[in-house]
Amino acid sequence: MKRMLSGIKPSGQLTLGNYIGALKEFVKYQDEYEMYVFIANLHTLTVYQDPEILRKNLRDTVLLYLACGLDPKKTKIFMQSDIMEQAQLGFILSCNIYLGELNRMTQYKDKLSKGEEGMSSGFYVYPTLMAADILAYQPDYVPVGDDQKQHVELTRDVAVRFNNRYGETFKVPEPLIPKQGARIMSLSDPSKKMSKSDASDKGCIYLLDDPKAARKKVMSAVTDSINEINYDPKNQPGVANLLTIHSALSGTSIDALVEQFKGQGYGTLKKAVADEVEKLLVQLQTSYKELLDQNILTEVLAQGKASAQGIAHATLVEVQTKVGIEI
Ligand code: TYM
Repeated sequence: MKRMLSGIKPSGQLTLGNYIGALKEFVKYQDEYEMYVFIANLHTLTVYQDPEILRKNLRDTVLLYLACGLDPKKTKIFMQSDIMEQAQLGFILSCNIYLGELNRMTQYKDKLSKGEEGMSSGFYVYPTLMAADILAYQPDYVPVGDDQKQHVELTRDVAVRFNNRYGETFKVPEPLIPKQGARIMSLSDPSKKMSKSDASDKGCIYLLDDPKAARKKVMSAVTDSINEINYDPKNQPGVANLLTIHSALSGTSIDALVEQFKGQGYGTLKKAVADEVEKLLVQLQTSYKELLDQNILTEVLAQGKASAQGIAHATLVEVQTKVGIEI
């Protein structure tokens, strides 16, 4: 069975973008692959987090993983910081990644170009830890949304470089990006990605949003003045985004939706998308509440850790031996 690994960084509440671009895919793949999904709690610290809020976000993330359908019998769910081998491997990999490569990372360049002050050095080296998160487990595939592709490419580059320097050690993983829904856009500004770090809440649907409030966000989504329902991400990004969300949640193809909504106003499309979003949130939140009462988090994470640690440990020992730091 081929192995797959991915993670989500709960630096806030999980969003509809995380669901469509990542979580839904993890659930789809868990029957076919040996699946590892972790909570990237160390990565959240690259930007200051209120410790109390962070703890709640971590718990909610595990519950939402389960509520979305990740089954701990099939998927190993674990906390990044529980596997210390990952951070240790991260340091060794950072010694094999050049400053120039980190300078080219889009997320870093974006912050730099916006003149963001007080960026932490953790934020700068973030992709080196992400490379370790992945390579420690020797996965074949890494399912991610579009914005993480560059990080997986850096991971591949460092894996190849390490293998050339020290001999075959790492499997070189492939990113797996969904054909549709890999970049869900903000509802209030469809030129930007829907993101949990959005300044305004209006463009972002959180999986724990009140379903009625989420409906309102969809109903007030920014569209355009063309007033025709086409799938044209370049000229009609708002409408294309609504069609993508609908298609991802309903399973109806975008072509079929364009046909179905032909000649109708944007209000009709928005209402249909709002129905799909509301249905998803009600269903997720019902399971979330049931799981909350079951008190199963510690057990799920302990099981995940037990399955994951051996693999990461074996990789780290091999790496340490190859680079010469083990005597
Ligand atoms: P994060 O937490 O920003 O996002 C988690 C996953 O959700 C996807 N995603 C989206 N997909 C579609 N539309 C959107 N608007 C959208 N927003 C987010 C992301 O592409 C991602 O797949 N660095 C990672 C976490 C991480 C990781 C890893 C992932 C740390 N180590 C190792 C994979 C493997 C991150 O910040 O993702």
